[in-house]
Amino acid sequence: MNESTLAVLGGSPIISRPFAPFVSVGDEEAEAAAAVIRGGVLSAYIGARGEGFMGGPQVRALEAKAERYFGVRHAIAVNSWTSGLIAAVGALGIEPGDEVITTPWTMAATATAILHFNGIPVFCDIDPVTFNIDPAKVEALVTPRTRAIIAVDIFGQSADMRALRAIADRHGLKLVSDTAQAPGALYHGKPAGTLADIGGYSFNYHKHIHCGEGGILVTDDDRLAQRMRLLRNHAEAVIDAESPAELCNMLGFNFRMGEIEAAIAAIQLDKLQARVQSRQRAADRLRAGLQGLEGLGLPDVAEGNTHVYYVFGLTLDPLTIGVDRATLVEALRAEGVTGLGIGYQNLHLLPLFRHRIAYGTAGFPWTSPHTSRDVTYGAGLCPVAERLHHETFVSFSVCHAELGDDDVDLVVAAFRKVWAGRHLLGNRHRRAA
Ligand SMILES: Cc1ncc(COP(=O)(O)O)c(C=O)c1O
Repeated sequence: MNESTLAVLGGSPIISRPFAPFVSVGDEEAEAAAAVIRGGVLSAYIGARGEGFMGGPQVRALEAKAERYFGVRHAIAVNSWTSGLIAAVGALGIEPGDEVITTPWTMAATATAILHFNGIPVFCDIDPVTFNIDPAKVEALVTPRTRAIIAVDIFGQSADMRALRAIADRHGLKLVSDTAQAPGALYHGKPAGTLADIGGYSFNYHKHIHCGEGGILVTDDDRLAQRMRLLRNHAEAVIDAESPAELCNMLGFNFRMGEIEAAIAAIQLDKLQARVQSRQRAADRLRAGLQGLEGLGLPDVAEGNTHVYYVFGLTLDPLTIGVDRATLVEALRAEGVTGLGIGYQNLHLLPLFRHRIAYGTAGFPWTSPHTSRDVTYGAGLCPVAERLHHETFVSFSVCHAELGDDDVDLVVAAFRKVWAGRHLLGNRHRRAA
């Protein structure tokens, strides 16, 4: 046994110490939260018409700061980005049976937000390089019932918004941007999330900046902003309109962010730029170090984009590498590499969609008389996303840790060691891969 013996075969691991976890909240956040608590008002919302309908001073200060930061007319704080997505879909006036095109390569909330208004999610396959919705495949999915596209800036870089906007304009569709994973990313110089009719960000613990749970919507559209503010705060208690278009979807939600979370989120927003830069530094070093490893695909940054590396997405070509994905990942983990995940997501394969069981058990809303065609889901619908998930994709959330150059170099050394010794591994997991 020598130092090149793979750890999974009994050798010593390259990485024998844990990396420092990233702790982004410090004294400033603690002080801001304490000040709110000392003031005694932890949420100042009132569901009825009046001053308090828009939230307390911390919520409003956060929104004003986010409007300046992202350069938008309206920022609307919510208690999670899931709430934000639901408010966005509701504000668009989606009717039961309306179709919304989105990507399967995302977190379930992107698509379930559509279902909350009895809209029908239609999944479009993804680009094999950026993992974002593939605009070339969107248009074929547009039907007379299509009302909107929800793009997701997956893993930290924007979807191709120019192409999506062109399709949306051609067919009179609204465009929504789920930028949960990419705050701080740029698309042709503009903040990702601000290129759609409605966009927004998640502030949950795992994201670049967080306040525990929370999120924020952004839009330049005054009417949509007003509708989202209504949806956030028990719209039915205050909406005074009689026109069906304005009453549409005005259901009584409570999506209100508390004052403590807002105070913390405002401080976190100041830290976003530095956070993004430190992830980009680590990712660039990692990319340089992993360059040239046979059969390993590194994240590609599309022209006009910057990438903020929520996930450093890898692809493995098992035939070129000669070892199956699960065996390789097991060997990397044994060398002490953390943050590796096999595959990602295919929403159209979730039981909810495969069996079309959402509201009740009888297939509602897909089987409702409001729908105009039979939208079904299952294997084969999105072959690019499926192949990536089942065979070639490895998510690497390495940039979540606070990585120094030495840490990155250890990760690189672990990959290089595994690649050098991989021929001794066999294909132990071939079926599971
Ligand atoms: C792409 C995407 N959309 C939506 C969400 C939901 O955000 P939240 O957890 O703030 O509700 C997430 C969170 O993981 C996400 O990654």
